[in-house]
Amino acid sequence: MTDKISFTITRRRVTEVLMGLVALLLASGTVTVILKYLWPRASDEGESGETMVASVDEVPVGSAKMFNFNGKASVLLNTPGGFRAFGAVCTHLGCIAYWKPDENIIFCPCHIGKFDPNTGEVVAGPPPSPLPGIDIMEKEGAIYAIKWKDPDYVKTLTMYAGAA
Ligand code: FES
Repeated sequence: MTDKISFTITRRRVTEVLMGLVALLLASGTVTVILKYLWPRASDEGESGETMVASVDEVPVGSAKMFNFNGKASVLLNTPGGFRAFGAVCTHLGCIAYWKPDENIIFCPCHIGKFDPNTGEVVAGPPPSPLPGIDIMEKEGAIYAIKWKDPDYVKTLTMYAGAA
C-alpha cells in the first residue's frame, strides 16, 4: 500500500503566501528603521565614533592614506608636523583632492584647487571654502578619526550634506 499525499494549491493560496512575504519584508524594513532610530551608530551622527584609519607604521612621514569618514572620502596626512586629517571632497565641485607632499599642498586636479595641509584653508584655485578638518587621535599604534572638527561648517557644504 502506498501513501499518496496530494496538495492542492489554489491561486488564492499562492496570493496569500505572496502577500504574507511582502508583509514580512515590509515589517522587517520597518523594524530596522525603528531600531536604527532608537540606537543610531555614533558614526551616523558625527559624534564620538572612532574610525580606525591606519596603523602609525602604515603612513610614514611624507605619505598619506585615503579613507572613508562618515561616508565621505577623506585623507590622513603624516606631515613633518604630525598627523592631520581632512575631508577630501573638494569644496568647489566635489572632485577628490589628495596630498602632494613634494609641494606640501592638498591638490584638487579638476580645476587646480590647492589647500593648506595644516589647516585645510584654500591656498589657490576656485574652491570657495576650506576642506573640513577631522579630529584624530593616536591610540595603541593606530590613528583613529573621531569627529568633524566643525560639524556646523560641514553642514554648510553641499557635497557633505548628511555627513555632519
Ligand atoms: S572641483 Fe576641485 S578645484 Fe574644482
